[in-house]
Amino acid sequence: MFSSRNRAIGKAHSKLILIGEHAVVYGQPAIALPFPTLTVTCAIEEADSGIHLDSKLYSGPIDQIPKRLKGLAICIHKTIQEIGKHHNGLLLKIESMIPIGRGLGSSAAIAVAIVRSLFQYFNCELSDEKLRELVNIAETYAHGNPSGIDMESVCCDEPIWFERGKGIASVAIRSSFYLVVADTGRAGDTRSAVGSIKHKLDKSPIQTKQSIDRIGQYTLDARNALIQGNLVQLGLLLNLAQTELEKLGVSDHGINHLVNIARNAGALGAKLTGGGRGGCIIALAENCVQAREISEQLNQNGAKRTWSFKVEETQQFQSITS
Ligand code: PMV
Repeated sequence: MFSSRNRAIGKAHSKLILIGEHAVVYGQPAIALPFPTLTVTCAIEEADSGIHLDSKLYSGPIDQIPKRLKGLAICIHKTIQEIGKHHNGLLLKIESMIPIGRGLGSSAAIAVAIVRSLFQYFNCELSDEKLRELVNIAETYAHGNPSGIDMESVCCDEPIWFERGKGIASVAIRSSFYLVVADTGRAGDTRSAVGSIKHKLDKSPIQTKQSIDRIGQYTLDARNALIQGNLVQLGLLLNLAQTELEKLGVSDHGINHLVNIARNAGALGAKLTGGGRGGCIIALAENCVQAREISEQLNQNGAKRTWSFKVEETQQFQSITS
């Protein structure tokens, strides 16, 4: 046992975007799922003086943090300022299972774990609204113009329907399914991928807008497929979204290769997840045998690693049908 005055732990899980990434930046809807297999923990202890970070990304005083991580330092300072309580010194130890830059929400999850642990350390209540406000500071620094979907999905334990500026709603899932997540082994750069679509929109507005609108329509259709438990239709929609993401230039050779392997191994559909240009793909499987076969094929054909997990039917839906 330990005293909560002297030590505190905050946790968060990673996320997957099922469909709608990139288009969501331009006001289209997206569907995201919690990915509970991969988690991050922030443990806080008293230190003699100053605020220090101990993590794989950086270890040392947060005032000397590298520029790319500065958003985290600002988020920590703002959180402590918000709490308004005195401390002599703090050590924040971060342990993350979430690979960085793979579209799995690692930066948002780290920020969530940090904010939760700081509020716990100082025995202060943390509202959902305050959590989002503080995490958004780190996310804006890391991504430039985030839609907010990463932050929302790492904060939620249920599948979410997300529209920028409108918040979240729950998503009804009639039939459980399996997702296989495969890592290309290469970090993507969400900020530059988002920037490249902005550039495309300026250069070829009609075509680019068409792709964005199509992804929005596929996302609406995917919500219906989930409600109806129509996994074949859902797979088809994932494939169609991938085609538009390819046209938008955020897929790449390595992603396309894994997507094809997954489809040939029996996936009902496969696409990139998150920012793209590296990162991960997701493949939809009807059952665990199919998921295992897809995983095996991906592992033998270039995936750095794979995870597979079951997405359960939602409570909300169970109560409607029972
Ligand atoms: O952070 P990532 O790589 O999971 O991407 C987030 C989703 C995007 O739509 C690409 C960007 C955003 O802010 O919505």
